[in-house]
Amino acid sequence: MKIFLDSADIGEVEKWYQTGLIDGVTTNPSLIAKSGRDILQTIKEICAIVKGSVSAEVTALDCATMLKEADRFLSLADNVTIKVPLTPDGLLACKTLSDKDVSVNVTLCFSAAQALLAAKAGAEYISPFVGRLDDIGYDGLTLIGEIVEIFENYDFATNVLAASVRNPLHVVECAKIGADVATLPPKTLEMLYQHPLTDKGLKSFMDDWQKTGQSIL
Ligand code: G3P
Repeated sequence: MKIFLDSADIGEVEKWYQTGLIDGVTTNPSLIAKSGRDILQTIKEICAIVKGSVSAEVTALDCATMLKEADRFLSLADNVTIKVPLTPDGLLACKTLSDKDVSVNVTLCFSAAQALLAAKAGAEYISPFVGRLDDIGYDGLTLIGEIVEIFENYDFATNVLAASVRNPLHVVECAKIGADVATLPPKTLEMLYQHPLTDKGLKSFMDDWQKTGQSIL
């Protein structure tokens, strides 16, 4: 499973990309707003740091303007993925762009029916939001499973990019289901490392090693 960093914070992108664990980056208007920086400059800088897909989300709601915004993003770097909302205009923009071999990430997906349309529109990625479905009492992971099953039935090329991933259980279950990508905010990534028995075991090893009085170097 590929892991993308879900952030528009340049410092976080640099920090996490240096771990070698990150395969791409996703941003959205809220993350750009949170960064407090210019969107075009931010996307350009992230694309220069990360070799993989960098999702830049359009802010227009009509197809024609989405396509103009997409052209601006595409002029910034070769690894830009255009992110569009799962709306009629968003899918029309997706089809137009994908017909020209432009990488498109269709976001704000909350149903398998929506995902089916995005696949038919030629999306490279579909972003179902796991956590936000959980927030309203649905099981977001069930949606991931439905989409993976449908895409396998028809051999759609669209990658399932699990988004709104809030904790390690989400990540593990997405991997077990077979999501192609999970995009994780830094705080979720940090959680993946952590286990109390690892900390306890390492302390025990170090305490015992200290008693030997030895050193390797
Ligand atoms: O990529 C979408 C993600 O940023 C949304 O996450 O936790 O706000 O639902 P969240």
